[in-house]
Amino acid sequence: MMLERNEELKELAIKEMEAHRETVEGDHYRSRYHLMPPVGLLNDPNGFIQWKGVYHVFFQWMPFSTEHGAKFWGHYTSTDLVHWELAPTALTPGDWYDKNGCYSGSAISHEDKMLLFYTGNVKDEAGNRETYQCLAESTDGIHFDKKGVILDLPEGYTAHFRDPKVWQHLDKWYMVIGTQNLAEEGRVVLLESSDLKNWELKGDVTASGHQEVGSFGYMWECPDLFELDGTDVLLFSPQGLEPEGDLYQNVYQTGYLTGQLDYKEGKLSHGSFRELDRGFEFYAPQTTLDENGRRLLIGWMGVPEQGEDHHPTREHKWIHMLTIPRELHYVNDKLIQRPVPELQALRHERVEKTASLSNEKIEWTEMNGTVYELLLHLKKIDGSFSIHFRNHASMIFDSEEQKLTFKRVSFIDGKEESRSCSIAEVRELRFYVDASSIEVFVNGGEEVFTSRIFPSENEESLVFKAVGEVQFEAIKWNLH
Ligand code: FRU
Repeated sequence: MMLERNEELKELAIKEMEAHRETVEGDHYRSRYHLMPPVGLLNDPNGFIQWKGVYHVFFQWMPFSTEHGAKFWGHYTSTDLVHWELAPTALTPGDWYDKNGCYSGSAISHEDKMLLFYTGNVKDEAGNRETYQCLAESTDGIHFDKKGVILDLPEGYTAHFRDPKVWQHLDKWYMVIGTQNLAEEGRVVLLESSDLKNWELKGDVTASGHQEVGSFGYMWECPDLFELDGTDVLLFSPQGLEPEGDLYQNVYQTGYLTGQLDYKEGKLSHGSFRELDRGFEFYAPQTTLDENGRRLLIGWMGVPEQGEDHHPTREHKWIHMLTIPRELHYVNDKLIQRPVPELQALRHERVEKTASLSNEKIEWTEMNGTVYELLLHLKKIDGSFSIHFRNHASMIFDSEEQKLTFKRVSFIDGKEESRSCSIAEVRELRFYVDASSIEVFVNGGEEVFTSRIFPSENEESLVFKAVGEVQFEAIKWNLH
């Protein structure tokens, strides 16, 4: 492997970090409890794993600008999912097979080593793409040795073939990859191996006869396939869906299919696609099974090509962040997401209030803030109810329309924009508010809205409004 070139790239990334540290850290939009790039651009979470007790989250990283490009794998570690430490850069695009980017992939633990599977992205001068699935190994979880290409592009797919996710089932290894077939339809393929080096292609995992998916977007990125509470879940991020009512409003989406995976046939019998998040910024999530048997998920709080040029943090030499870690469950035929309980360690200064509002608006200045968790138990909503954050974003539930809506001030044109979903009843709302983001968990995670917000630094207001009769109890903790 091109040791020198890779070492040189690592050095350059460190220099870039040092050169811009003050500019980056001087941004009041820097998150207080989410993972961000130390400089430059972050996108997908990669290689999420708990290995020998330590959680590892790698991330797609472009250190040298706030644009996409030849990605590195940045690396954070944590023992508690709350406090994270930046580790040395794990992968750099310094070899012929990954020279235009060490693209997304996953991690497994095997024979005392941590193994990373990722996509080597290569482009020639004319912009033609090549794709290689590659392996890297580590004995200490910090330094990674690239082992080169383990899989070439098979027949039947374009070079949009990437993002390997690997897991073990019984005595075999399996890998899903996001692809585009020759008809330019998105697909996920399944591969099988007994030695992690030779991989046999089993074909499109969703093509199960009568349930053929047909045309559903032109590329499916970042697949993940796992068993959860007795069901098999295929998670992926399709590109090319048209908006349909409240659905598919972002440039690209993330969602899932559920059913049973027949490992022998390599087919998932499944129902229809459902979106995982209702907010503005959520894409390319990845899960892992931790040492306590929990299925955890982290996503990218961004969407490719969706307003990226307008992010206000770019003038501070960084862009994007990851979501908080969430625990997944499958309940009442639905994937639910809950913030991991470890995040409670961030709670400080608790304030509690109960209210019974009738066509009125209240401002509780003691609830003001910029970085906090707010939990609302809704006892009665007869009419509509809204909560307004930092004069910049709001959540509105209309009990007659049975519609829940998130609104924010757009960072592109300053106008108000919204995302909605239908829901019969809202009993609980949990908000994780950070310096430039908000994640809303509805009814214990039945619905989630994830979005970036960019209010002015000193805007701390929290306002509740009722049209009709509303009763609720609110608990707020500052987080730090
Ligand atoms: C998703 C994605 C992946 C790819 C990576 C490149 O956001 O496009 O498909 O591996 O980002 O950074």
